[in-house]
Amino acid sequence: MRQVILIPAILAIAVISASSASSASSPVPQAPNAATLYRVHCVMCHGPMGKAAIPAMAFIGRQWKHGTKSADMVKIITEGVTGTPMMSFKGKLKVDEIKALAAHVRSFDKTLPPEK
Ligand code: HEC
Repeated sequence: MRQVILIPAILAIAVISASSASSASSPVPQAPNAATLYRVHCVMCHGPMGKAAIPAMAFIGRQWKHGTKSADMVKIITEGVTGTPMMSFKGKLKVDEIKALAAHVRSFDKTLPPEK
């Protein structure tokens, strides 16, 4: 019998804490920023700030293999590189998110000139 009372009580607490948490943050849902997307989708391979443990996955201290323009990087992120662990993010990330990520990973390499 005790559980019957406990479960709705727990649910009520969960609902209250969830609603107070959302009212504390901005009411308008914001698009996740590039740094957050990078942490979620890329850092496990490419490393923090592009300093990957495996040189082939680093964005700094090596030559870019597929081009240094952010458009080149958009293409790689969208299509992936067949035969490598670099998978396609088409359909997993929005076009705007891919563009933001391309600019983000490009910015790790301070030897590249800023893009217009
Ligand atoms: C499972 C591991 C893995 C994940 C996750 C991953 N990548 Fe990659 N990525 C690779 C590998 C391996 C390569 C090198 C491919 C090659 O040899 O051509 C690569 C290559 C790239 C390149 C081209 C680098 C160059 O030298 O031209 C870009 C840009 C890139 N990844 C961006 C990303 C972004 C942004 C994310 C997250 C959305 C991501 N990757 C997630 C493994 C990964």
